[in-house]
Amino acid sequence: MTSARTTGEAPVLPGALPGLGHAARLLRDPLGLIGDGHQFGPVVRIMMGPRAAHLVTSPGLVRAILANGDGSFDKGGPVMNAIRGLLGNGLLTCTADDHARQRPMMQVAFQRTRLGMYAPIMAQCAAETAEGWRAGQTVALDADMLRTAIRVACRTLITVDPDGTSVAAMAEAIPVLVRGLFRRTVIPLSWVHRLPLPANLRYRQSEQALARAMDTIVRHCRGLAVPPDDLLSHIVSASDPATGQGMTDAEVEDQVRTVLTAGTETTASLLAWTFHLLGAHPDVEQRLWDELDGVLAGRMPTFGGLGQLPFTKRVLTEALRLYPPGWLLSRTATAPVRVGDYELERDAEVLFSPSFLHRDEHAFPEPDRFLPDRWLPQSITPEQREAFVAMGGGRRKCIGDVFGMTEATIVLAVIASRWRLRPPKNAVSVHPALRIVLNPSALPMVAEPRPASRPGPP
Ligand code: HEM
Repeated sequence: MTSARTTGEAPVLPGALPGLGHAARLLRDPLGLIGDGHQFGPVVRIMMGPRAAHLVTSPGLVRAILANGDGSFDKGGPVMNAIRGLLGNGLLTCTADDHARQRPMMQVAFQRTRLGMYAPIMAQCAAETAEGWRAGQTVALDADMLRTAIRVACRTLITVDPDGTSVAAMAEAIPVLVRGLFRRTVIPLSWVHRLPLPANLRYRQSEQALARAMDTIVRHCRGLAVPPDDLLSHIVSASDPATGQGMTDAEVEDQVRTVLTAGTETTASLLAWTFHLLGAHPDVEQRLWDELDGVLAGRMPTFGGLGQLPFTKRVLTEALRLYPPGWLLSRTATAPVRVGDYELERDAEVLFSPSFLHRDEHAFPEPDRFLPDRWLPQSITPEQREAFVAMGGGRRKCIGDVFGMTEATIVLAVIASRWRLRPPKNAVSVHPALRIVLNPSALPMVAEPRPASRPGPP
């Protein structure tokens, strides 16, 4: 993170409005704003309401911030502060001290052996989605992928629903909350979000519904003599190896909220964008079908067999590059620290965008093209590896990366084995919606039965 030269404070990007700063532009055209920031240099200050955040656009500097070798950064900044309001002190949002204790306890629930158990549940959930469609039907693919991901999360996380309504209440509340978060990020003024507006009321009602459901579920799980073999029971029974102490109810609830939120919108977004890209690239889609038909021949994918689907993996990785669900991340400096040419004070907020880094021409030639073969092992360059941060990096790298990619591969394989999804005639163009997770604005697609695949290697 250090550099020989120090040139004082980073410049402020022109165009900030009094009181609002760059919030209006951030809400309207965040990637355009980030691109403009980059023109000023790898570190530039932007104003989010009255607060400044240092926007970092160089892959090397972002990697160094994520690696955080000297501990100069911690979870914080505009994005994480807004998410913390919803997720409390769970693994995604907690600060370094809590993280050192929480991560090993949570890691138990994500071991590879457990993923082998979750894989058939994922396949079953995908099959239910695929079986629910009729030939020629226009499906809301974004909503269906979210429903599928929530179904997977609920069935792997919580296999016992104490009153038969709590899991459904959680599943209903999560999308409303995740969708309301971006406004809270860009306008970090709590009074604005307390105004009696319909969106604020919906948000508050969903917060209360989620809190009630969490409370019921966690208290019920603690009281079970024989806990079920699900993610929640593992979180409830995990203990800190250093002290032997487990998590409090409040901590468990924060972890469940975290997993349900971070683990559903992200995977659903990846799947929705992947189908959107395949609909626009029939040549890639044909190669995917060839691989799926050749390897699976109509069978359900298994965790152990995913290695036999390398093209499917490249398709998903390339979709993650073009549309990383966690498109805007942030940190806070815990001490004075130099980033590139600038000295940042303690508590300075830092913002960076995987979306922006993933379109870096130097790392990814023809960055706007959907080219899964740029992920062939022999094609991957060090620059590409450095700039690809879809799962974050360092100690705070996504704990659900294998879970998420396993789920995405299985859902893609099950659905693409049965259906060809095409944009409807006269479809309006699909663009990223401005949320904390990079979802498509809306994704209607027509489900057509699959044509027979041609023989031969993908
Ligand atoms: C395609 C799917 C996914 C993507 C793109 C993704 C992306 C990310 C990113 C970028 C981070 C780092 C955030 C930061 O540095 O501030 C992260 C962290 C995290 N993710 Fe994921 N995620 C995915 C799936 C999942 C799943 C399936 C789960 C859980 C079941 C999950 C749970 C978490 C948690 C708990 C953290 C915090 C880890 C820590 O700080 O130790 N994610 N994810």
